[in-house]
Amino acid sequence: MRVRALSALALRWLWWIVAIVVVLYAIGRPVQLVWQSHYRGDREPWLQLIGPYSVQLHWQSREPQQSVVRYGLASTPLQRQQREESAVTEHRLQLTCLEPATRYDYQIDAGPRYSFTTAPLPTDRQPLRFWIQGDPGRYVAETAAVNRAAWHWMAQQPLPQRQSQSLFDLWFTTGDNAYPSGKQLDFQRHLFEPYTELLPTVGYWPTYGNHDARRFSFYRLFDFPDQAELGGVPSASEHYYSFDYGMVHWVMLDSHSLLFSVTMGLQGWLDRDLAANRQRWTVVLFHHPPYTRGSHDSDSVTDSRGRMVRARQQIVPILERHGVDLVLSGHSHLYERSHLMAGHYGSSHTFEPATHWLDSRSPYVKAADQRGSLYLVVGASYDLANGPLDHPAMAVATRERGSLVVDADYQQLTGHYIGIDGEVVDQFVLQKPLPSP
Ligand SMILES: [Fe+2]
Repeated sequence: MRVRALSALALRWLWWIVAIVVVLYAIGRPVQLVWQSHYRGDREPWLQLIGPYSVQLHWQSREPQQSVVRYGLASTPLQRQQREESAVTEHRLQLTCLEPATRYDYQIDAGPRYSFTTAPLPTDRQPLRFWIQGDPGRYVAETAAVNRAAWHWMAQQPLPQRQSQSLFDLWFTTGDNAYPSGKQLDFQRHLFEPYTELLPTVGYWPTYGNHDARRFSFYRLFDFPDQAELGGVPSASEHYYSFDYGMVHWVMLDSHSLLFSVTMGLQGWLDRDLAANRQRWTVVLFHHPPYTRGSHDSDSVTDSRGRMVRARQQIVPILERHGVDLVLSGHSHLYERSHLMAGHYGSSHTFEPATHWLDSRSPYVKAADQRGSLYLVVGASYDLANGPLDHPAMAVATRERGSLVVDADYQQLTGHYIGIDGEVVDQFVLQKPLPSP
């Protein structure tokens, strides 16, 4: 009897301990998530929403401050100024009434003087250069070496007739920007601290990856043009939006939330946006690749909860309908690239080169109907993973760290994948006929 009573008591105690642990976790988890959405410290400015006539400056101060930003044409006295309306720690200030494709200097309070160049007009045909990092979310020696290699290559290979003085015009990522969890401290360590010279001077367009989705920091740190502030069709959601930069139309999609209601309107908006698009080139970025056999498998309905299958079945047909030129993804920590292709929505074993490849040799030339896209997986700017690299659609597949440089002029779109040692691992050219007058 005594033993039975003791075990009943122990069981009751155990039940209480489990209940307390569950309650503490239930309370503590949201508190932890909210807490990790903040970072109390100084941050140098980062450029958002850079357009022909305006730019939005974000920066952060440890203590609340009401700052003054002085700005003006580069290398001239900073005669214009804007004062914040109140003292805050998370600062956002838009500089307006700027001129397109023009270099400006700015200074926040008594801080350093920085420069940036506004976007060219959508009608401007000047050549442009873009830098794309793949899953760069941990800043280690290899990441730094990949960056240095690409910057060195760009400095050595300037784009003829490009007018901007900066090394490249915009800076993109293919997602997973701050490992492991996309919390404020991760962004601090792997973005804000190592990139203090770049963030204040070049427009930064990060794609939303699955690791960014683990916390709430991403959409708190970055603002995106959901009201078509920089061209395109208003999306009313920062999870999918577009903008024009010179002659290139950029579309940025959140493929992580494809499973959830936050992206329910994505497909309808994407169709409308691309139908309205008249830009010379169209590039689409989203994290989960529709075609990969790298460290992820786009055939698998369980890998990444089927997001790659969904991307292929739900997004790719819309992109193809409107003749998108380039589709950039990450997630697989390797490099893969297709030929010019269209019409493949199934598993890799259903891929038929004779049917799905429209042109199998660079320079790829689009027919007058604009059909066909190049698909790239750029996911190895930091980590390098293993994988079979045998997707039949991916004509180039290599296990090499690097980042992508995309050059656009009116005649052609050119890509160079620059490896960690500075060598050109892959290059391609895409051309299309001139539009009829
Ligand atoms: Fe990922």
